[in-house]
Amino acid sequence: MIRLDRLELTLPSQAGDVHILRGLDLAIDGGETVSVVGPSGSGKSSMMMVVGGLERPTGGAVTVAGHDLGPMREDALARFRRENVGIVFQDFHLVPTMTALENVAIPLEFAGRRDAFDRAAESLDKVGLGHRLSHYPGQLSGGEQQRTALARAFATGPKILLADEPTGNLDGETGRQVIDLLFDLCRTDGSTLMLITHDPELAARCDRRVQLIDGHITDDGRAPAATHKAATHKAAPQQASTQQANPGTSAARKAG
Ligand SMILES: Nc1ncnc2c1ncn2[C@@H]1O[C@H](COP(=O)(O)OP(=O)(O)OP(=O)(O)O)[C@@H](O)[C@H]1O
Ligand SMILES: [Mg+2]
Repeated sequence: MIRLDRLELTLPSQAGDVHILRGLDLAIDGGETVSVVGPSGSGKSSMMMVVGGLERPTGGAVTVAGHDLGPMREDALARFRRENVGIVFQDFHLVPTMTALENVAIPLEFAGRRDAFDRAAESLDKVGLGHRLSHYPGQLSGGEQQRTALARAFATGPKILLADEPTGNLDGETGRQVIDLLFDLCRTDGSTLMLITHDPELAARCDRRVQLIDGHITDDGRAPAATHKAATHKAAPQQASTQQANPGTSAARKAG
């Protein structure tokens, strides 16, 4: 579902080029829930932006839901995001001048759904906010705002849900409720989840844990024999038999 091959991201800054992502290899299957952990500044959000088609890689390849994002033009990327990806941010990113219902209806309207407002109301109902449709973000609690953002992210039934520290601005109990909801929605829809978090307990709730340090993946949460390197190295017969011993690996990678 998500595949990174030698992915690089280098951005200019006043102090010179910043090598943010330094050759990432990663394969995530459809329906997997994966946490992304690592120190501040290690490149977690940047990786998520590339996977979501919001930032273009400067090297390597990124394939998401069968789309090779590298060569895609802006309009194609926008369509890709609309059709495949839901995103939740730490600070909610709701439009302050729009009601909860209008916020959730945005992606549905962009997708050309005539029933955008009915679907948005359903989506808000699912996150327990059926009684807050006409409230503006400023009239909602933090937890309610994040649930609205979840309703918006899931409204179009995305294959992939990207969440960047979704509980970072919430107190413990509210955060737990939002996370329970996030996992419920992913399970119901069969969505693939990439969840950035600093919370080890939260990371442990995911199927896999990917660790980034200084722009490198230092642990992709898979057994060594199934890592990208082992699965893609050519030639050596010994390695070929390793591949055969793990038939799921290459098949799963193709599916991703
Ligand atoms: N637009 C940009 N231009 C230049 N450098 C950037 C840009 N965006 C991010 N960076 C740098 O890239 C590095 C990785 O940033 P990123 O936001 O991906 O880290 P992170 O792992 O999400 O950190 P945190 O846990 O603090 O959110 C940081 O050193 C940051 O300063
Ligand atoms: Mg970040």
